[in-house]
Amino acid sequence: MTTREVGIGIVGYGMMGKAHSYGYTVAPLMRQLRCRPVLRVMSGRNKERVARAAAAYGVASWVGDWQALIDRPDVDIVDICTPPGTHAEIARAAAAAGKAVICEKPLAVDYAQALSAVAAVTNAGVLNAVGFNYRRLTAVSLMKRMIDEGAIGQMRLMRASWLSDEFVDPAIPFDWRFDVEQGGTTISDLGSHLFDMATWMAGPIAEVSGQSETFVPERSGKRVTVDEASAALVRFESGARGVFEMARTAVRRPCDFTIEANGDRGTLVFTYARLNELLYGDGSDRVELYGMRRIRAEHPSHPFASDWWPIGQGVGYGASFVNHLGDLLERWPDGPWEPDFERGAAVQAVCDAVEVAAAGHRWVRVAEVTATAVP
Ligand SMILES: NC(=O)c1ccc[n+]([C@@H]2O[C@H](COP(=O)([O-])OP(=O)(O)OC[C@H]3O[C@@H](n4cnc5c(N)ncnc54)[C@H](O)[C@@H]3O)[C@@H](O)[C@H]2O)c1
Repeated sequence: MTTREVGIGIVGYGMMGKAHSYGYTVAPLMRQLRCRPVLRVMSGRNKERVARAAAAYGVASWVGDWQALIDRPDVDIVDICTPPGTHAEIARAAAAAGKAVICEKPLAVDYAQALSAVAAVTNAGVLNAVGFNYRRLTAVSLMKRMIDEGAIGQMRLMRASWLSDEFVDPAIPFDWRFDVEQGGTTISDLGSHLFDMATWMAGPIAEVSGQSETFVPERSGKRVTVDEASAALVRFESGARGVFEMARTAVRRPCDFTIEANGDRGTLVFTYARLNELLYGDGSDRVELYGMRRIRAEHPSHPFASDWWPIGQGVGYGASFVNHLGDLLERWPDGPWEPDFERGAAVQAVCDAVEVAAAGHRWVRVAEVTATAVP
């Protein structure tokens, strides 16, 4: 086995800079890879902070701006962990330099920006991936596999919600998350994960409705330009129906997301607070067994589980990054990588459609967004 080195440059040193550093560090420990990721450089505008973070996360060096990171000849993969409003510009620059690009979700703050990133990586012919990491939790991946294998029959309903309390306190000072140009909406911040998982499992969304609210309109004397809580009804192209809710104003809900699929023969329910489990209701069970069985989604037969600990030990949030980045590294340098930028843009189109629907109090076809966008 050869162990070719792959140079990683991480843009941003915040929570995702840390999570991705963790993923690259642990992936080679948990599975055999044909390449060895080397954390070469991290970029950040605050020199003291980026220097401290690079040292703590095991990154060999740091630079003060992301273009300098992209320009480094020893960087093969540019991994973007900055606010959504910066993603497309950094991705375009990385692609123009011939670098593979991994970008945190959402791919951009609107579909037009997302398209510009897709065009850049397509024209440059570089590998590209979006950070929809939750797909690669064992239980979520198992849910998708069971749906594909027919465990619930024909999909009828998909419901998903993401509740957090990060915006509850009006004293939380203004930062990029409250600025729609930098952070994007709550629809795309939380909803992009939900729409990615839902469309991965149930196919494309055809049309959406929407409603949005901002309860604290001003912070630190600045106007909040994002929704704090939104919801959408959706119709999938398959004819299945869906209900989605994303809110950062739910008291004592830290990061609670659920996703449930009801088919004509069964039900599957994933709850993030119990991430090593999947509930399964099988309509063909004897009636005396009416109810849901709790699958321990950590059996070696389940996706990714054999890379981890013996059944019963469980995994956490970090495993999603290890599994995600491990999959991408396993396919280095030929690919394919998925979910890719095209997928990220398709999810962004759904988010944009919900925003338009909420603003206009009407149903909006996703095709309305994709047909009119100019990158
Ligand atoms: N997949 C997940 O589970 C997950 C979780 C949280 C955040 N995210 C996404 O990751 C991205 C980063 O979020 P985070 O929580 O790490 O944020 P963070 O605030 O912790 O860190 C952001 C980083 O970007 C830098 N930054 C801020 N503005 C910048 C600018 N204009 N130009 C260049 N750098 C800038 C900051 O200095 C910091 O290093 C966002 O897109 C967010 O939606 C994903």
